Amino acid sequence: MIISKHIADITSIIENQRNSGRKIGFVPTMGALHEGHISLISKSVQETDFTVSSIFVNPAQFNNKADLDKYPVTTGKDIEMLEAAGCDLLFLPSADEIYPADFQKKQYDVGYLETILEGKYRTGHFQGVCQVVDRLLSIIHCDVLFLGQKDYQQCMVIARMIELTGYPLKLNIVPTVRENSGLAMSSRNMRLSATEKETAAEIYQTLEILKKNLKKGALNELKQKGFDYLTNKGFEVDYVELTDDRLRELNDWDGELNVVALIAASLNNIRLIDNMTIH
Ligand code: PAF
Repeated sequence: MIISKHIADITSIIENQRNSGRKIGFVPTMGALHEGHISLISKSVQETDFTVSSIFVNPAQFNNKADLDKYPVTTGKDIEMLEAAGCDLLFLPSADEIYPADFQKKQYDVGYLETILEGKYRTGHFQGVCQVVDRLLSIIHCDVLFLGQKDYQQCMVIARMIELTGYPLKLNIVPTVRENSGLAMSSRNMRLSATEKETAAEIYQTLEILKKNLKKGALNELKQKGFDYLTNKGFEVDYVELTDDRLRELNDWDGELNVVALIAASLNNIRLIDNMTIH
């Protein structure tokens, strides 16, 4: 695996690959890698000819400074994992490389996606995500961008940003990887103690409860049931929501539409999110 901190090296390596007719896959990350990230790398290795990844903890997407300060950094181990998974090129930029002094901030019109669910609880977060992914895609000319379904709303926001900016690429959304307990893999899980990790698996149990109890008609009672279940397990719940596959809130279900269940809840101040397509 080639590792570089510099845009000039990265663009020239990628252009050489493109000129040789190779299909480029890209997996952006903020490091603290786990099996979920590795499944994205493996998918790219399977489906493209040259896999690029990046590690950059993007300050612009943290609405909470304490959260940024606590974000785990495990670069040495990340490099080993990427190498073992068959990644070809790693971009490891400094903040100055991504946001130079003359960097022009854009505003992305992602519509309702910005004010619902995660957007509601993390003001400015999705503008920060669009900003960094746009910047990365302007450097890494890929054919396929791989993102994890764990961040369902992020996938939709980035799809919209790609539509707005016109990058000629395909978005490949890869299913969530879970621990045996059902807990969705996340870099934040590193902050959980062994007991907290066990409790955190209740988020998955709640998604299963929502799936099992989904019935045609009014949904408020079911959402409340999920909310109460998690509250009783010691979580501070931001939302337990049921939506269609475009994340539009569902209060009444016709028995036909695809339904996505989404949860955000904190355990001892560690905020976790998860989702599941339940119909
Ligand atoms: O999902 C993430 O790790 C980040 O939001 C991303 C897409 C790498 C942008 O910083």
